[in-house]
Amino acid sequence: MKNNKINLMNKMQYIDGITVVDTDGTILFSVKFYPKFNPEIENTEEIIGKNLFDVFTNLDSKSSTLIRAMNLKLPIFKEKQNVVDFRGSEIKTMNMSIPIMNNNVVIGAIEISKNINEYTYSNSVVKMNTDMFNDRKMITEHMRPDKARYFSTDIITNNHEMKQIKIFIEKIADSISPVLIYGETGTGKELFAHAIHNASKRAKHPFISQNCAAIPENLLESLLFGTTKGSFTGAYDCPGLFELAEGGSIFLDEIACMPINLQSKLLRVLQDGYVRRLGDVKERKINVRIISATNIHPQKCVQENKLRLDMYYRLSVLTIEIPPLRNRKEDIKLLLNFFINKYNNILMKNITNISNEAFAYLHENNWIGNVRELEHVVEYAMNIVDESDDTINMTHIKKMFTENNYVTTVSDANCIQPLKSRISVIEKEIIENALIKSEGNVSKAARKLEIPRQTLKRKIDSYEILNNKRPKTNK
Ligand SMILES: Nc1ncnc2c1ncn2[C@@H]1O[C@H](COP(=O)(O)OP(=O)(O)OP(=O)(O)O)[C@@H](O)[C@H]1O
Ligand SMILES: [Mg+2]
Repeated sequence: MKNNKINLMNKMQYIDGITVVDTDGTILFSVKFYPKFNPEIENTEEIIGKNLFDVFTNLDSKSSTLIRAMNLKLPIFKEKQNVVDFRGSEIKTMNMSIPIMNNNVVIGAIEISKNINEYTYSNSVVKMNTDMFNDRKMITEHMRPDKARYFSTDIITNNHEMKQIKIFIEKIADSISPVLIYGETGTGKELFAHAIHNASKRAKHPFISQNCAAIPENLLESLLFGTTKGSFTGAYDCPGLFELAEGGSIFLDEIACMPINLQSKLLRVLQDGYVRRLGDVKERKINVRIISATNIHPQKCVQENKLRLDMYYRLSVLTIEIPPLRNRKEDIKLLLNFFINKYNNILMKNITNISNEAFAYLHENNWIGNVRELEHVVEYAMNIVDESDDTINMTHIKKMFTENNYVTTVSDANCIQPLKSRISVIEKEIIENALIKSEGNVSKAARKLEIPRQTLKRKIDSYEILNNKRPKTNK
């Protein structure tokens, strides 16, 4: 074991490649120094701008060390990863992945990698985890960001139900009872968790956020509960996150991903307020408020045995259900303005408007990824508008939906909207495509659509289809 450890340390003494990604997993920088590293990717420039998951097709948010480092907000040291690139080549790497923070906000991650294809490694998963754990000991105590960044005032809304939730969180802020937040992905669960903590008397104490889906079971247990020296090979006396959050709050995100065994251990913390470090006999009293979140309905989690029923009862004493964006369309305009302002500042742009047509399109969207998805659309549009532009229009947003395969949710059959308005949006899209394919020739497009030219002309006018869909040759 000891020799393995020395080998492992030596193996990382130089590196073969560096990768930098942003929070979406888009590769911003990539360089390889070792010629046999990704031999198929001749030129690393060709992967810049692509998504990590598109380039390394076997990776997902759980197996990618870069994504996990961002989720954990912690460096991951010397972890092995098998990656298959988009051309099918398999490479084994040893990685060190470090989140990049700006004012306590994760903005990306950097990974330095070593090709280990040629080495015969026998280090076990436990071995790797032990190393990670020891490194974590150093950083949890000194570097872990433990501040809640958002306040209730950061939650932008005009919706009655959301306003009621904001009032509710102020009311319950000082209670010790656990809070369970449910909402689809991107609805703002994390924002609410921060706001609850910041509205409470605990605000000056730590707020520790832990995604239960981000790390393997044995690590999650030691991370939450802590360890004692000798509880496993290489373990140190180390407090868990419950202890580190003393006096404050702990936010357990994706709670239904917590393994069932661990849930029973958590239940004891919830009931008695005591934690016991791994391998310890002593129990320690803690004063921590537990806020948890799930993007799958908690009752469904119980039905599918992902959440213990007794845990659900205990966690859900105070439950908050955040409505999806498609059910609070009045927020779209407000959020659009908010994000336009934000990106005007970040990107030094001067956007002051959004065209009626673009707004109508966004308004009709089903917003599968909710506020996060809306923000991404604005961010994209703000990146591609010209310096001189003051308006976001259809061309700026439509590209995002087509190029990124975003769900044009107006055509999502599960979305119940007034039939007439949905049909109009779909009809307009079909006409635009026909015009593009006919190079703007209305007669040609009418023939393709098998409708009279006059009818098509009337529809083009009523939908105010842009001239660039039917350029010069508009016959
Ligand atoms: N009402 C809001 N006002 C302003 N920003 C918001 C609002 N709701 C969400 N956001 C922003 O949208 C993004 C997604 O929010 P958040 O991370 O809280 O969602 P989530 O529900 O935790 O998503 P997931 O289930 O994927 O973890 C964040 O950048 C957040 O700041
Ligand atoms: Mg979240």
